[in-house]
Amino acid sequence: MIQRRTVGIVGTGNVGTAAAYAMFNQSLASEILLLDQDSRRAEGEAMDLMHGQQLVGRITCRAVDYPAMGNAQIIVLSAGASQKSPDETRLDLLQRNADIFREIIIQLDKHAPNAILVVATNPVDVLTYICQELSTRPNRRIIGTGTLLDTARFRALLGRHYGVDPRSVHAYILGEHGDSEVPIWSNATIGGQNVYQRTVLGKEWEAETMQSIFEQARDAAYEIIDRKGHTDTAIGVVIARIVRAVLEDQQNVLPVSTRPDGAYGIEDVCLSIPCVVGLEGMEKRVDPELSEDEQEALRASAQALLDSRNGLDIEP
Ligand SMILES: NC(=O)c1ccc[n+]([C@@H]2O[C@H](COP(=O)([O-])OP(=O)(O)OC[C@H]3O[C@@H](n4cnc5c(N)ncnc54)[C@H](O)[C@@H]3O)[C@@H](O)[C@H]2O)c1
Repeated sequence: MIQRRTVGIVGTGNVGTAAAYAMFNQSLASEILLLDQDSRRAEGEAMDLMHGQQLVGRITCRAVDYPAMGNAQIIVLSAGASQKSPDETRLDLLQRNADIFREIIIQLDKHAPNAILVVATNPVDVLTYICQELSTRPNRRIIGTGTLLDTARFRALLGRHYGVDPRSVHAYILGEHGDSEVPIWSNATIGGQNVYQRTVLGKEWEAETMQSIFEQARDAAYEIIDRKGHTDTAIGVVIARIVRAVLEDQQNVLPVSTRPDGAYGIEDVCLSIPCVVGLEGMEKRVDPELSEDEQEALRASAQALLDSRNGLDIEP
């Protein structure tokens, strides 16, 4: 019998731990299960979190092995290998992560076949696709964090530019979580007012400024990694956001990585499109109306993702 509000995390490095901390601090789960190939690391993180209970509330945090993951309703996948040497190619690294995910999916299909999976490891769109190919669970129950992080960064920067709360900005970055991602200006709005080529809240549309805002959002990870070596806190909050949408069946519209299944002429990849997220995972795609240029850019993003899979062995 699945208990209510048990969340699992596979891979308790920077990202997995930040996600656990965000969920713990928001009292999102009654139990957080941590699993890492470095079991002592997972134990240490569980102990550290448990000591906050007196201040946050009674949330059990435990280091576990795969059979215990059977209790989880939703499991975050943030395990990953990092580059072994500067000579290691991007494809070699991707192949190593694909191999790690094959092992993880075998275990989770055995012990937690009904859990929703949230993939965070990069390249997140390719690994979400691989998980869907390898797992026996329906595709809608495997979601990639996709461009929810990029969209959050985009809205934060736009909010600062227009002097409003980022939660009052409705603007998406869609496509790949990465270099080919696409800013959607055609339906970017504040207070129901489209911002594209208009003056809003006294701010004129300046193409260069707006392009720079998008580029700051797109390239934020490089800038952060350059300064602190990795990114973790914002992706932790993003993961907690998706977990909340599922656990509380919130039916939130979030840009998460999923299969377009022919929308915009795109198939056979996972990339971000606004989706309704609830108890069943990705419940519906919204497929917003996009300009011709945006659709073309989205197809180019899909092609970049297809190309990045070339040469990869993802047979079950
Ligand atoms: N989706 C996003 O927006 C986003 C944002 C930031 C980082 N990331 C990605 O998240 C991933 C993790 O980043 P990180 O900084 O936490 O890395 P990290 O090296 O700190 O953590 C990775 C963890 O995975 C564990 N691991 C490796 N193989 C495993 C296996 N087979 N089973 C269980 N655990 C295993 C390692 O022991 C380690 O603790 C990276 O791919 C990174 O690029 C994604």
